[in-house]
Amino acid sequence: MKTVKIAPSILSADFSKMGEEVLSLQRSGADVVHCDVMDGIFVNNITFGIKMVEDLRKITTLPLDCHLMIVHPEKYVERFAKAGADIITVHWEACQDNLKEVLSLIKSTGVKCGAVINPDTPVEKIEDVIAMCDMVLVMSVFPGFGGQKFIPSALDKLREIRAIIDESGRDIDLEIDGGVTPENVEEIKAAGANVIVAGSAVFKAADRAAVIAQLKA
Ligand code: DX5
Ligand code: ZN
Repeated sequence: MKTVKIAPSILSADFSKMGEEVLSLQRSGADVVHCDVMDGIFVNNITFGIKMVEDLRKITTLPLDCHLMIVHPEKYVERFAKAGADIITVHWEACQDNLKEVLSLIKSTGVKCGAVINPDTPVEKIEDVIAMCDMVLVMSVFPGFGGQKFIPSALDKLREIRAIIDESGRDIDLEIDGGVTPENVEEIKAAGANVIVAGSAVFKAADRAAVIAQLKA
């Protein structure tokens, strides 16, 4: 089993003090900072973009995991890479037939790449690109907002993808995103996820370090 990494989503942070929020995550034992980039078109919400990644890069040593919920992600990949992203993940729903090309483009910038599927997209859509990914991200809520309820069918997808990854013999992370809590994290990890995104569970907690430790344990 791969090491479990906790990736708090700054979507649930106080945007008026983002630097402090990220430093607080770092002090609290987070392994990765999950950056939810939304364009108001691919999803029904708007967050932040390249400049946020560039500025966070200056203040934290934690890896920046950039989850692009935008149309035409290929237009922005190079700029996110240059801004300091460590990994860029793109949705099958945004790329469809071009997913392989977009993943290759990300790799060509020297940044790690990942494919993402929404709750209503079957694993078979990304099956042929899994081996070229550094990470696969399974959405366990429909993207757009934090604080939604975990959709249990994501567990079957995790098991299916974990089997494909094991079969490939490659070192590929499996990330879960949406509705993760200390109550459901056990079955999520048992299903094969090793990178755990948590937004509201971490940011709502009085003791962030305790929740991060609980999610990791
Ligand atoms: C949803 C985002 C998630 C979300 C997770 O569109 O991709 O990263 O912020 O938040 P919680 O953990 O609150 O579901
Ligand atoms: Zn996300």
